[in-house]
Amino acid sequence: MAKTKSFTCTACASTFTKWSGRCENCGEWNTIAEQGPLSSGPPSKTLGGKRGQTIQLTDLATSEAPPPRTHSGLGELDRVLGGGLVAASATLVGGDPGIGKSTLLLQGAAQFARAGLKTLYISGEEASAQVRMRARRLGLTDAPVKLAAETNLRDILTTLEAERPQLAIVDSIQTMWADNVESAPGSVAQVRACAHELTAFAKRHGTSVILVGHVTKDGQIAGPRVVEHMVDTVLYFEGERGHQFRILRSVKNRFGPADEIGVFEMTGRGLEEVTNPSALFLSERGEPSPGSIVFAGIEGTRPVLVELQALVAPTPHSQPRRTVVGWDGGRLAMILAVLEARCGIPFAGLDVYLNVAGGLKITEPAADLAVAAALLSAREDTALPADTVVFGEISLSGALRPAPQTENRLKEAQKLGFSGAIAPAGGKIGSGGGLTLTRPSDLTQFVGDVFGAG
Ligand code: TYD
Ligand code: MG
Repeated sequence: MAKTKSFTCTACASTFTKWSGRCENCGEWNTIAEQGPLSSGPPSKTLGGKRGQTIQLTDLATSEAPPPRTHSGLGELDRVLGGGLVAASATLVGGDPGIGKSTLLLQGAAQFARAGLKTLYISGEEASAQVRMRARRLGLTDAPVKLAAETNLRDILTTLEAERPQLAIVDSIQTMWADNVESAPGSVAQVRACAHELTAFAKRHGTSVILVGHVTKDGQIAGPRVVEHMVDTVLYFEGERGHQFRILRSVKNRFGPADEIGVFEMTGRGLEEVTNPSALFLSERGEPSPGSIVFAGIEGTRPVLVELQALVAPTPHSQPRRTVVGWDGGRLAMILAVLEARCGIPFAGLDVYLNVAGGLKITEPAADLAVAAALLSAREDTALPADTVVFGEISLSGALRPAPQTENRLKEAQKLGFSGAIAPAGGKIGSGGGLTLTRPSDLTQFVGDVFGAG
């Protein structure tokens, strides 16, 4: 079979069949270089005559002790990790620049060090003096954390070999560079190579490695996404810059449930845990107002109440605006379409704005009904009773589907002093949390029950 040449971009590692001056994938100039011939699969039909070794097989029933875990004492962090930090694991903490990743991990490092782990914090972004200054501000100077400011991966691995820490934090993976990879630090090829070496080190020596990765605004290039599949646990640190709330969310966890969240508040003295997020998310709520609805959600294993705010106003533009913060824009379009098609409530010619208060990002379909309620309440300019929570999924037919963990949502609402709930018929409600329940079976009935004839 004829062997073809291949060309690879040194910045983003895409491969092409012909050379060009500019990489089509990442847009960099002069980064495409010729590689050895592209392999067209194994050279012959079989591996040849050489024998490999027989692999030892085991069965599923073999029992092993669960991997050892260390608790930091920061309850919110431990929960998101699935109940503490697992030895020999690789974790990625991603987030926008400036959101507080370094702060979180310095606090985490100090806590783990106090809990007895030999901890090493390697900063590729800040000088040791800067990290020390931050530690002083956070009141962490007494914690036995060892610091280094370094970006050369080979030196870092040699140091890790010599020190053999139990926890190594690398802040950030985008600043690290391996000298066997020719592209610039932060490029996909570098990020991938460095993450691979560090994860391999974690597995080989039983060190827990935490990598920090920046998410770039416009996309994935050099973002932490390329390392997601290499690590055991992926956590994202999110929040709105103007808000003090920060949410640490696990999107992948080989050692615990995914989709768990930890809530923190950024204060002058670093991040503080928020053990009752619902109270916090609702604390800024004023008098009942049109467009404001409390959604009883579930984040991971925990119920969280949060306020949804909608504004509906006649548009001055030919194309009405649909703006969403904290929820999915496509899902909003779907709810608007269902309201129009199934209930005859048009939103044409109206601007629609939807906001999740407090900087939380909601992904649950169970928010559908709360969104619909907020939209209708804003459109009709009528406020719903302030002591009522709403949740449930809307299907395209206009039918309502019960949300999972209905009972937990109701209990949380009752705990926070709510007295009523609007939720789809069906689903296990237990005692109903002692709330007055309104249980419509479809959207039309919901509109009728809640907003009169609609
Ligand atoms: P940082 O941890 O440096 O963010 P990242 O590593 O994700 O880029 O946090 C930066 C922001 O946090 C900065 O704007 C200041 C704020 N901050 C506080 O409000 N209080 C504090 O105690 C600290 C250390 C930072
Ligand atoms: Mg940082």
